[in-house]
Amino acid sequence: MKIVVLMGGDSTEREVSLVTGDQISKALSENGHEVIKIDPAASRDEQTALNKTDRHWIGIDYPDFELLPAHQGALYLKNLLITKRLKPDVVFNALHGGKGENGIIQGMLDAAEIPYTGSGRLASTLAMEKDISKQYFRQANIPTPKGTVLNRPGASRKNIKQLQLPLVIKPNDQGSTIGLHIIEETRQIEPALSDAFRYSGKVIVEEYIAGRELTVSILKSRVLPVLEIIPEHNLYDYECKYSDGMSAYQVPAKLDDALAKSIQSLALRAHRILGCAGYSRVDFRLNTENQPYILEVNTLPGMTGTSLVPKAAKAAGINFNALVETIVEEALK
Ligand SMILES: Nc1ncnc2c1ncn2[C@@H]1O[C@H](COP(=O)(O)OP(=O)(O)O)[C@@H](O)[C@H]1O
Ligand SMILES: [Mg+2]
Repeated sequence: MKIVVLMGGDSTEREVSLVTGDQISKALSENGHEVIKIDPAASRDEQTALNKTDRHWIGIDYPDFELLPAHQGALYLKNLLITKRLKPDVVFNALHGGKGENGIIQGMLDAAEIPYTGSGRLASTLAMEKDISKQYFRQANIPTPKGTVLNRPGASRKNIKQLQLPLVIKPNDQGSTIGLHIIEETRQIEPALSDAFRYSGKVIVEEYIAGRELTVSILKSRVLPVLEIIPEHNLYDYECKYSDGMSAYQVPAKLDDALAKSIQSLALRAHRILGCAGYSRVDFRLNTENQPYILEVNTLPGMTGTSLVPKAAKAAGINFNALVETIVEEALK
């Protein structure tokens, strides 16, 4: 098949996506596919560097480099146009965060009638907006930390006062633990809110769940083994997510069978009620009384060789290339 791998983009998780994109491209080539990498935020020169050729976009008029960033937005449209012109059988979406994960790219691909991997437009939006996902979880009786949401920096703090310390303050629609703060004392609330509002127009304030960090990957309709993350820091932050040796992993997690099964079933239900497709990764905290709380569903989880979904797949006997191939097959169903 001819497969365009979308990677990079202009979100805060751009660098991670470039690594995901490279590893997915390598796997797809090894599986016998023709692969073209497209960075939706790239200028013509950057696009050429990515594939070491410019033959795919001859005839496309890019804004001159000096005129960027005034025409930055046009790059997404142009690069999608190139993608369409390449007539791929499918697009592998290796973007993370921002427009690549929140439904915008999905909507553009829908409009262009190009099939793509992973969740569709609506599920992507619902999963990206943590406050909306949490409403879905509550409605389905999937426990999620108690909290409130501030819709603007000046919003009333009344509901925060009703929550017990420690708290977590985080942007509504970021990833990679960016802009996230643990609050142990009241005086830390305002600075944390200001920082979180730098990344999002909405901020979540919720109870901190002391305990263990678990994540559950879904592939097709299959739930992979529960994976426990043991980060060096007291939360799974950017450094622990992406630096070697900053986290230890245990898969399958050491949990009694009944508890592991119930967490897996919560994960699959969360994936389904948001309408996710293909694959996803569901993040949990497990408190000291073994009560699980769902934090979020990631519709475009990291897919480098050392990422969590590939680790869980490996524990289920699925190697990286087979995992990538399954995701492609699901996209064409
Ligand atoms: N309510 C919470 N209680 C305890 N830890 C939390 C809570 N919310 C987030 N965290 C910590 O921060 C990390 C990132 O939070 P998450 O909601 O998954 O956002 P994202 O991964 O999109 O940045 C979690 O993996 C966890 O370590
Ligand atoms: Mg997370």
